[in-house]
Amino acid sequence: MRIDILTILPELIEGALNHSIMKRAQEKGHAEIILHNIRDYSTHRQKSVDDYQYGGGAGMVMTIQPIADCIEKLMSERDYDDIIYMTPDGKVLDQGMSNTFSLGKNLLILCGHYKGVDQRLRDIFITKEVSIGSYVLSGGELGAAVLVDSIVRLIPGVISDETSALTDSFQDSLLAPPVYTRPQDYKGHIVPQILLSGDDKKIEDWRFERALERTKERRPDLLED
Ligand code: ADE
Repeated sequence: MRIDILTILPELIEGALNHSIMKRAQEKGHAEIILHNIRDYSTHRQKSVDDYQYGGGAGMVMTIQPIADCIEKLMSERDYDDIIYMTPDGKVLDQGMSNTFSLGKNLLILCGHYKGVDQRLRDIFITKEVSIGSYVLSGGELGAAVLVDSIVRLIPGVISDETSALTDSFQDSLLAPPVYTRPQDYKGHIVPQILLSGDDKKIEDWRFERALERTKERRPDLLED
């Protein structure tokens, strides 16, 4: 999968996506993540990317020209499954959305800043608007990193233990059950005996029960659908 990210702060995303699983996914060729600095596309003499908003009011707005030129160039090179805008007024990201995005071949993600981008960019190019939660960040970059991580780890082959991504929290609308590793006894806090029993069926049932219990307690909304 190829993911193009348009941003005025590529450094902010670079660090987040060049470690651990995301780094390996790119090295193994499962994902190609390309950062585009919007400023490089500005035809303004000072390479500016924002301007005052019409109608007045505090806060700058990202201008059409550099973003449109960058998107149009990329669109002339390949078809995109979606052109996503990261924004607090978008649809709140969930596992189902990440699953759907992970089936695509090419994604383009636009990160906003200041008061956001000129509405006409959204009207012309954007096919999905995504928020990572009901709070306002300084820009879309951290949201884009979260979105990309959640998508790329679902691409077959990215996680070596094939079943691992499938048993994540939310994957079947349940939170994940508790997990334990050595030692069996830490200062009197012991690992549930059933996990040491070697009985796969009983362990599976136990994990399901714990997942259900945890979901009922912490996220009952997940059980409503
Ligand atoms: N940009 C600013 N806040 C955001 C949020 N909550 N989600 C996605 N992009 C954002």
